[in-house]
Amino acid sequence: MHSKQGRKNLKLDFYKDRLKGMLNHKRYEHSLGVMNTAMQLATVHGADAEQAALAGLLHDCARCIPEDRLVEMAREFDLSLHEVDLALPVLLHAPVGGRLARRDFGVQDEAVLRAIAVHTLGDKYMTLLDKVLFIADKVEPGRHFQAVDKLRALAKQDLDRALLSCYDMSINYALRLGDQVHPQMITARNKLILDKLSRKI
Ligand SMILES: [Fe+2]
Ligand SMILES: [Fe+2]
Repeated sequence: MHSKQGRKNLKLDFYKDRLKGMLNHKRYEHSLGVMNTAMQLATVHGADAEQAALAGLLHDCARCIPEDRLVEMAREFDLSLHEVDLALPVLLHAPVGGRLARRDFGVQDEAVLRAIAVHTLGDKYMTLLDKVLFIADKVEPGRHFQAVDKLRALAKQDLDRALLSCYDMSINYALRLGDQVHPQMITARNKLILDKLSRKI
C-alpha cells in the first residue's frame, strides 16, 4: 500500500513525465520554476499550496503546440474565440491548456483548470489561486526582465498590486510590439482597479 504522500509523489512524477514529452527543455524548466514560486506565493497568501503547485506545473502544457493547431483545438474544445485570439493564437495556449490538463493529465480540480485557463489574460473575476498562478508565471526564478526583483518583492506583499503590475507589463509589451491588446485583459485590469485598488492607492 502506498501512503497518501507516496501516491501524491507518484502522481506528480506522472505529470512531470507527461509534461516533459509535450514541452521543450526551456519551457519545462520554466514550468518547474512556476510550480515552486506558485507554492511559495500560495503559502504566503493563504492559498492552497498543492493546487498552486499543480496549476504551476501544468499551466504551459499547451505552450509548444503550433499556433494553427491551437486554433483548431480551441474550436474542437468549443472555446469562445475572440478576433484577437485569431490574430495572436499563442494566447490560446492558456484555455487550451486548461482543457488538456483535464483530458490528458486527468486533473479534475476545477479551480486548478480555471487558473490554467486564465493565466495569460486574467479575468474579470480572479480567485486567489488564479492570481497566484498569474503572478508566479511572471516572477519565477528563470525570469530576467528589468524590475523583476521589485515585482518579486511586491508579489509577497500585495497580490493585487502585483497583479496590476503584471497586467500593465503585458499591455505595455503588446503596445511596444504594435500588437492588439486582448479586451479580456483590459476588462480584468479595469475590474481589479475598481474592486481592490481604488481603496488602497
Ligand atoms: Fe503561458
Ligand atoms: Fe508560463
